[in-house]
Amino acid sequence: PSNTGRVLSIQSHTVQGYVGNKSAVFPLQLLGYDVDPINSVQFSNHTGYPTFKGQVLNGQQLWDLIEGLEGNDLLFYTHLLTGYIGSESFLNTVLQVVNKLRSTNPGLTYVCDPVMGDEGKLYVPQELVSVYREKVVPVASVLTPNQFEAELLTGFRIQSEGHGREACRLLHAAGPSKVIITSINIDGILLLIGSHQKEKGEPPRQFRIVIPKIPAYFTGTGDLMTALLLGWSNKYPDNLEIAAELAVSSLQAVLHRTLSDYKSAGHDSESTSLEIRLIQSQDDIRTPQVKLKAEIY
Ligand code: ATP
Ligand code: PLP
Ligand code: MG
Ligand code: NA
Ligand code: MG
Repeated sequence: PSNTGRVLSIQSHTVQGYVGNKSAVFPLQLLGYDVDPINSVQFSNHTGYPTFKGQVLNGQQLWDLIEGLEGNDLLFYTHLLTGYIGSESFLNTVLQVVNKLRSTNPGLTYVCDPVMGDEGKLYVPQELVSVYREKVVPVASVLTPNQFEAELLTGFRIQSEGHGREACRLLHAAGPSKVIITSINIDGILLLIGSHQKEKGEPPRQFRIVIPKIPAYFTGTGDLMTALLLGWSNKYPDNLEIAAELAVSSLQAVLHRTLSDYKSAGHDSESTSLEIRLIQSQDDIRTPQVKLKAEIY
């Protein structure tokens, strides 16, 4: 771990708007990282709009890019970052990429956002759940599920904060030393629960951050959150709570700016999903003011 790194980021690309690589690459660059994006899809816009068009990369095409890099000895990465993956064959190729990158750099940190669904709804094919659970989680270093994804990966229903902490322990036992449940809704309160197991078999250090819910629906926030957690947890490798405070604080600043910009433009911010004001928030990404503090359990 160091202050910087080289990140291979395999995520969606949209021509317009900010999800996937569009919401992860710029923030990581602002934090000083070299980022090499592979676009797993190229869509006109995110899939929450009434329509979208574009192309989907398949597993073989992903592998071609990896072989191209390997042919020139360009496969040294400190970090692999993955987000939404739409098919089982692509996910299996991502697993091959993890192995390949680790054979070049055994110290590779794999930051995995196991994007499968939200609020009880699955939005990837059902077959992906067992691949994530059985093959991906065991090789991930850092995992950033939401509440529903943590439930799918552990088979454990999260109905309290204590359950969230237990789900993190189950996930550590399966692989990753850092687990951040990025959002968990308990009694109308939005919480982030972080958990860092410094030694295998030891009890993890756990904390929570209470996040005031903004009455609007944003897209690209999960992808931005995981990118910021990668960026800051690498700079504070032994202090996941500071990394999470910084990431959450940047994100809240982005969301508040987004909401106020939409309002001043006269848009009804409660009826549609909002595109985050990422570029306008670069100071809040580079030097966040920590307003939301972590509470250690
Ligand atoms: P994934 O993308 O893996 O499914 P997720 O469901 O946690 O993760 P989001 O729901 O986008 O992703 O939330 C990510 C983060 O964005 C949360 O931790 C929170 O900080 C912030 N966030 C998103 N929506 C809001 C909101 N309406 N009010 C306040 N914070 C929000
Ligand atoms: N990637 C694509 C292609 C999408 O269409 C969307 C949302 O519609 C996302 C990612 C969403 O990302 P997030 O969970 O960060 O809001
Ligand atoms: Mg969510
Ligand atoms: Na998440
Ligand atoms: Mg998401």
